[in-house]
Amino acid sequence: MSTEQALKTKITILPNGPLIVEGDFDIISPDGSTEMAQGKGKVALCRCGATQSKPFCDGSHSKIGFKD
Ligand code: FES
Repeated sequence: MSTEQALKTKITILPNGPLIVEGDFDIISPDGSTEMAQGKGKVALCRCGATQSKPFCDGSHSKIGFKD
């Protein structure tokens, strides 16, 4: 794997579900800190708005029947 490939970030849109973010990334909170997800290699970000742990998916999209 080249250095360029190792640094690449991949975002996958799951059907009727979250965005899966994999790779090297930081999620910056409104106060400017990166403590939310710094150093993690894979997270699921909510795109239905129903999660109780924003910005992360907690599976609520299934309960509300979210359709994209
Ligand atoms: S996409 Fe999973 S809780 Fe919103």
